[in-house]
Amino acid sequence: MSFTNVVHVLVLLAVCDQVTADSINFYNVKPPVEATPFPKSFKCFTCERASDNYNCNRWAEDKWCPQDTQFCMTVHHFTSHAKTVFVAKRCAAVEQCLASGCRHHRDTGHTECVSCCEGMVCNVEVPTNGTNAVFAMRRQAYSSAPVRTWGSGRSTLLTTLGLGLTRLVLL
Ligand SMILES: *[C@@H]1O[C@H](CO)[C@@H](O)[C@H](O)[C@H]1NC(C)=O
Repeated sequence: MSFTNVVHVLVLLAVCDQVTADSINFYNVKPPVEATPFPKSFKCFTCERASDNYNCNRWAEDKWCPQDTQFCMTVHHFTSHAKTVFVAKRCAAVEQCLASGCRHHRDTGHTECVSCCEGMVCNVEVPTNGTNAVFAMRRQAYSSAPVRTWGSGRSTLLTTLGLGLTRLVLL
């Protein structure tokens, strides 16, 4: 466990001491200030197969994302009664974020929703439906796309990225 992780855990424990464990506001859990490994570096909540969102965020690894990734991804599997089966979070490249959206798995009866966002530990929540299972990209990334008119630019970008079925949200 790196020093950063230790500090992060201590911060979380300090927070836990003050409030009941169920009321941690993960939006307020800011990573400690430290040198960034490279320009535009960021971190994501990262967990492999947590039992729910709380347990993912609470024990999530706090580490810099690899340079070939630009987004934070969240995968949420839940039953037809909206009960979480598992939550996975990781750093992701644009290609992986093309899977954003919800799919029903007929074999298990479970639904899988995938969302992607851009920014420091932005993947706090889990997607639960088509409204929030989106690929949320910052507008600067979009503004470098060739066509700048809102309507046609958006569809051009979607087509360029092969995002035909993915809902893209520009922040
Ligand atoms: C999607 O899920 C969010 C959060 O659970 C909820 O607030 C929203 O109403 C849902 N939207 C639809 C269309 O079901």
